[in-house]
Amino acid sequence: MKDQWYKNAIAYSLDVETFMDSDGNGIGDFQGLTHCLDHLAGLGITCLWLLPFYPSPNRDNGYDVMDYYNVDPRLGTLGDFVEFMYQARERGIRVMVDLVVNHTSNQHPWSQAAGADKNSKYRDYYVWTDKLPEHEVEPVFPDVERSVWEYDETSQAYYLHHFYKEQPDLNIANPAVQEEIYKIMGFWLELGVSGFRIDAAPFLITGIGIEGADEKCLQNFLSHMREFLSSRSIDAILLAEANVTPDKFSVYFGDGDRMDMLFNFLLNRHMFLALARQQAAPLIDGLKSIPKIPQIGQWLNFVRNHDELDLSGLASEELEEVFAAFAPEENMRSFGRGIRRRLPPMLEGNCHRIELTYSLMFSLPGTPMLRYGDEIGMGDDLSLEGRESVRTLMQWSDEPNGGFSTSPEKNLAKPTISQGNYGYTHVNVATEQRDPNSLMNWMERLIRIRKQCPEFGRGEWQILETDEPCVFAHCCEWQGRAAIAVHNLADRECIATIKTKKYKHLIELFCDRQYEPIEGELFSIPLSAYGYRWFRVNTMR
Ligand code: NOJ
Repeated sequence: MKDQWYKNAIAYSLDVETFMDSDGNGIGDFQGLTHCLDHLAGLGITCLWLLPFYPSPNRDNGYDVMDYYNVDPRLGTLGDFVEFMYQARERGIRVMVDLVVNHTSNQHPWSQAAGADKNSKYRDYYVWTDKLPEHEVEPVFPDVERSVWEYDETSQAYYLHHFYKEQPDLNIANPAVQEEIYKIMGFWLELGVSGFRIDAAPFLITGIGIEGADEKCLQNFLSHMREFLSSRSIDAILLAEANVTPDKFSVYFGDGDRMDMLFNFLLNRHMFLALARQQAAPLIDGLKSIPKIPQIGQWLNFVRNHDELDLSGLASEELEEVFAAFAPEENMRSFGRGIRRRLPPMLEGNCHRIELTYSLMFSLPGTPMLRYGDEIGMGDDLSLEGRESVRTLMQWSDEPNGGFSTSPEKNLAKPTISQGNYGYTHVNVATEQRDPNSLMNWMERLIRIRKQCPEFGRGEWQILETDEPCVFAHCCEWQGRAAIAVHNLADRECIATIKTKKYKHLIELFCDRQYEPIEGELFSIPLSAYGYRWFRVNTMR
């Protein structure tokens, strides 16, 4: 059986460009990242997901790749990548990379050749039409693109692009394209990666514009990718970015023969609705709406990622509630469906509520993932355009440029946050390292305790009844052991009665206190405003 290491990994996503600059040119690089591995190891991270670091014209933050077999020269060399991989492995940290094959950059040699010559073998690598379809699907970035079809003057035909027009979609039905994708996977697996994040997975397997495309056949490509992966590595995994409705989850998990892991977009938006309402019900509804997945499958939970906080699956009144609570101004929103802020500003810097949110995310059934800067409570910069607001430079110290780079400020790859409550003079790794009460030291402890509770990653979950609607309580059981987490989503203290199975006592993990039942299966748990408690119980006793 496959090693299910990913079920209790502590994942961390980062962009090499914004993490650490080693040579003072203002751009983060692999040598800088390698230098910072001890910070990540110290925190307890066990798996990194690197955002695209391939050569790219950077129309879409690297998600427009022009060479799948190289490192963007601004970020280093393949040699630097291999050295980084060695150093990560030495620290027990696995590495996953982004596989962006729904589309290429229009600067990719395949795209250039396809546009220049209708008879080129690369023409069918992309999707073309002479006539626009009557009914069009909506582009993913409706504020910038009006259509998913763009007219190409040179070859006098329209090509498909779900994202920016500089990102032509690949024709996945073409066996030659499938072979190219296997080759790319094979290359990075040889360099030691532990898996791939499949970018834009739902778009990859749509047959839009592909003549005679058979949906089932396209979906089967997910199984073929997995077969290829397993033929080259015994434990590498596929993680899909698929923000789809529950009836579609089975397309991605298959019978346990497709994706190993999916981002839990559904639970993410339900968590934010629960936080906005200060009520557990939306989270309970969210969890209950997730169908059972194959044993090998797993959910990857997160608070924020590098895009907007996507609330598109919520009903419009629910969306308005979350907007009202966390993004009251128009400038804080994007695409009409999301929030372009980081968590701490959304929660007005309330450190109890910030801890509550991460404690909740870390205990939800699945694998937890942080994003760079989450550990120190970094903020956002709403003066930057679109999703750039949450992609500012990592803040290492109170030195110029937040210790990210010694370059003059004007050369920095992206702006740093230097002013206000989230400026690097207050919010940075070095300062928080020294402060025993900092978010970073708390996060390290949270990670340590999460590692002691594999039940949250692998167990059967169950919602526990409570008499307080603002309290979310759940229990996860695995191999005869159980862990319980209780979260008060409200801004007022309460004493919640929790109904569990019959346990002799609960042992609190954050403060090592023991609770006895008040009677039978009922425990009385005091919680401060935004308070949380994690417990261990031994079901064998
Ligand atoms: C999803 C990525 O998360 C996003 O940043 C990107 O713009 C699109 N895929 C297109 O690759």
